[in-house]
Amino acid sequence: TASPLTDRLGRVHTDLRVSLTDRCNLRCTYCMPEQGLDWLPRPELLTDDELVRLVALATSRLGIRTVRLTGGEPLLRRGLPGLVARLAALPNAPELSITTNGVGLARSAAALREAGLRRVNVSLDTLRPERFAAITRRDRLQDVLLGLAAAQLAGLAPVKVNAVPVRGVNDDEIAELAAFAVEHGYRMRFIESMPLDAQGAWDRARMVTADEILARLGERFELAPLPREGNAPAEEWRVVGTDAVIGVIASVTRPFCGGCDRVRLTADGQLRNCLFAATESDLRALLRGGADDDAVEAAWRDSIAGKGPGHAIGSADFRQPDRPMSAIGG
Ligand code: GTP
Ligand code: 5AD
Ligand code: SF4
Repeated sequence: TASPLTDRLGRVHTDLRVSLTDRCNLRCTYCMPEQGLDWLPRPELLTDDELVRLVALATSRLGIRTVRLTGGEPLLRRGLPGLVARLAALPNAPELSITTNGVGLARSAAALREAGLRRVNVSLDTLRPERFAAITRRDRLQDVLLGLAAAQLAGLAPVKVNAVPVRGVNDDEIAELAAFAVEHGYRMRFIESMPLDAQGAWDRARMVTADEILARLGERFELAPLPREGNAPAEEWRVVGTDAVIGVIASVTRPFCGGCDRVRLTADGQLRNCLFAATESDLRALLRGGADDDAVEAAWRDSIAGKGPGHAIGSADFRQPDRPMSAIGG
């Protein structure tokens, strides 16, 4: 039976974020350069068998209860519905969700739901086609909108929409995005941008703060605060008089590291105890070296034991992690 994955600060880790690929079919300017990145060679990626083994171990021995599939763009992973079905069939199956750019969702939403996926979060920073093409360097807004509708139709509810407002780029669209989500029954969340881009070009002055986001929303909606859902990063508000919910993820100005319940596995099988961790634990080497489950469990617990208090964005000794968000898994 599982014993909790607890760190030295008493934080209990029940949420695992698994990156399925570092590749992406968009090129968001705040994430990666136009030409893309040096993608991981395929043999370095964990296989489905390896992933299933690690998730099985995490749920049966470590008390992991929720698993979020991320990327890069996770829908680019070949045979994804098959992998989801295997994870959903585990004896201690976790609740499975995915974070995607939505481009491939119209094609895959029904199959993923059928395979056992429960929820989907879709990144969408603008509703204007030209602006979408400028931000993502691809003209795919329509695919994302169809993907959102398909996800909702497939019952992947509540469908959440993630937007990262950037000053001078899409910060004038905050209320419009929220109104769009309210109208369609999606749950809108606005995210403070973090220094996790591949170019190292993050600029705090272009980050839109939670206070500013709430001020913009306040001009359009009457909002009533909701209690936080467990250790979730999002603070949420109800639009008074409706059942719509709008959230803000204020990683920078209102950090939530003190309640962090997350651990991450990169597509190449490295365990990270924090989005901003300076080191990783090589689970892939253990698996491929023939380690038994006891050894893998021990390495996993060691990693969590070494977890720091949290990020220090804004402080003088902050160092951006070696890998960008797209390779860590968001
Ligand atoms: P649910 O609440 O389960 O729907 O998912 P989520 O909001 O945790 O997941 P999602 O992948 O949609 O993440 C949204 C944003 O939250 C990401 O873009 C990150 O900016 C932020 N985020 C997620 N996990 C962490 C974390 O561990 N630390 C920090 N600082 N930010 C995180
Ligand atoms: N800071 C905050 N959020 C980011 N995302 C991508 N890059 C950043 C960043 N630098 C968001 C995406 C997606 C989620 C997984 O992370 O918009 O919704
Ligand atoms: Fe957890 Fe690290 Fe994210 Fe803070 S920055 S919430 S400690 S993963």
